[in-house]
Amino acid sequence: MIRSELMDRSQIRNFCIIAHIDHGKSTLSDRLLEITGTVDARKMSDQLLDSMELEQEKGITIKARAVRLEHKTVDATTYELNLIDTPGHVDFAYEVSRSLAAAEGALLVVDAAAGIQAQTLANVYMAIEQNLTIIPVVNKIDLPVAEPELVAQELSDLGGFTADEIVFVSAKTGEGVNELLDAIVQRIPAPSGNSEEHLRALIFDSEYDPYKGVIAYVRIVDGTLTGTTESLQIMSKNRRFEPMEIGTFQPEMTPTQQLRAGEVGYIATGLKEVSDLHVGDTISTWINPASSKLPGYAEAKPMVFAGLYPSQAADYPLLTAALNKLTLSDASIQFEAESSSALGFGYRMGFLGLLHMEIIQERLEREYDLQLIFTAPSVEYEIETQDESIIHIDNPAKLPEPNQIREIREPWVLVGIITPHRYIGAIMELIAARRGSFKRMEYLKHGEIQSDSDQLRVLLEYEAPLAEILTDFYDDIKSKTQGYASLDYSMIGYQPAHLVKLEILVNSEPLDALSTIVEKENAQRQGRELVQKLQSRIPRQMFDVPVQASVNSRIIARETVRAL
Ligand code: GTP
Repeated sequence: MIRSELMDRSQIRNFCIIAHIDHGKSTLSDRLLEITGTVDARKMSDQLLDSMELEQEKGITIKARAVRLEHKTVDATTYELNLIDTPGHVDFAYEVSRSLAAAEGALLVVDAAAGIQAQTLANVYMAIEQNLTIIPVVNKIDLPVAEPELVAQELSDLGGFTADEIVFVSAKTGEGVNELLDAIVQRIPAPSGNSEEHLRALIFDSEYDPYKGVIAYVRIVDGTLTGTTESLQIMSKNRRFEPMEIGTFQPEMTPTQQLRAGEVGYIATGLKEVSDLHVGDTISTWINPASSKLPGYAEAKPMVFAGLYPSQAADYPLLTAALNKLTLSDASIQFEAESSSALGFGYRMGFLGLLHMEIIQERLEREYDLQLIFTAPSVEYEIETQDESIIHIDNPAKLPEPNQIREIREPWVLVGIITPHRYIGAIMELIAARRGSFKRMEYLKHGEIQSDSDQLRVLLEYEAPLAEILTDFYDDIKSKTQGYASLDYSMIGYQPAHLVKLEILVNSEPLDALSTIVEKENAQRQGRELVQKLQSRIPRQMFDVPVQASVNSRIIARETVRAL
């Protein structure tokens, strides 16, 4: 267990770990905790930081966590290391960027058998933008199939790192982890900030506790927080609160007397309302506060939208309460009330991506015991109307009548794919089928290392409509490349498209929740597929029930559910 003596700021290091999914971030965190004696080896459960049940099941990190370690260097100086965990999936780039803002350095972990992946690159660019010191780490060197030198070469080629910067470790056996701890101390700068200044604490995460209210995860940027006697405030809201407890993560929450500039810890605010506290906000003292708040974060930008309805209409208030709670632990979800003629009252929700949507769905169903119906995911369209105004819609049911539309524009993304070169053809085909256009290709693993051509890997870049890559694209890429390719995407803007609203009518009644926006030339095929699928799912009645698809009030496909 860690002593909570006061550290000089020059003895503090704040860092996070960025890695592609499965490259060993959680395992490395576990080893760091164990080797520094933060957690007793007896208490060590695998992947301690992935404590959320769903995380352990899916084997992925969803929420950023924080923990404090202590490391003694050879000259017997003790350093305080604050590790901020980050998620590894493309959907969670927003959470990664938040963790980065609370740290001065990042460990860039790359699997020695798998090499650099698309997400690794995206994360490196993000860390560079934030001016972080990056320590490149090649992990899993114990694996028989590991090729640490090849991967080190990739890191030099693509990330611009020099050979002697790269640290080789096995998170599994612990080999190299002590050297890594030394590198953290030597290379990552101590936090700047002044303990004598007015208090400014950056909220980088939050959670809800029924007894202590909203708990803010904070990085103290300036000033010193002493005990709980002083009233504090959320600066953007001018909202006063009396802190109930302050402390650090060791890794469980452990109260302390003081948090000083440079340190990472938590403040139990006692606040009960979700809306009182936002991730990215600044906490200062109520009396004599700092003169300006910290820049904070850009708002999370949802990319995927869907309607969300309780299966039992009576559960609507429960759903409302659950969503309000959920925003406390996931600041990136956005929702607003909507209603559907078929499904009743529900919410329109925005998600960072499809995996994010899946996870929210599961969390609502498991943690809040709700039965839910999600409508088909949609992107946000930009519409120029005949009177030249621009509107954004994320719900197909809200698309204006065709005669009011001058142009519909849809979001496009830049897609980066890293793949062994033998799959280039298969990927090109997939992309073409999804209206994508090729941009550029770059070979990895060149340099002096000779490798047989089968092992050559390439970075491919395409532009494609976001809507096309939302559904099944990731799975398709994985299956066409036997899991070897990785994918990353980022928004580039809106482009005009020939799109129409595909409506579904059951018994001649339109079902708004089933409306989708589709490419004009695909409408017929998609309409036919949808009505066929529905026909087989709708229970038979005492009379014939027509199931129809229509575009611009014209029926383009029809099936009939025959009477009993
Ligand atoms: P996310 O949390 O999903 O982002 O994944 P992660 O990057 O945290 O990966 P995780 O630590 O869960 O490791 C993925 C798999 O690789 C697990 O099965 C680990 O046991 C294994 N693994 C991690 N590090 C090593 C290592 O150094 N050697 C070997 N042989 N396996 C490792």
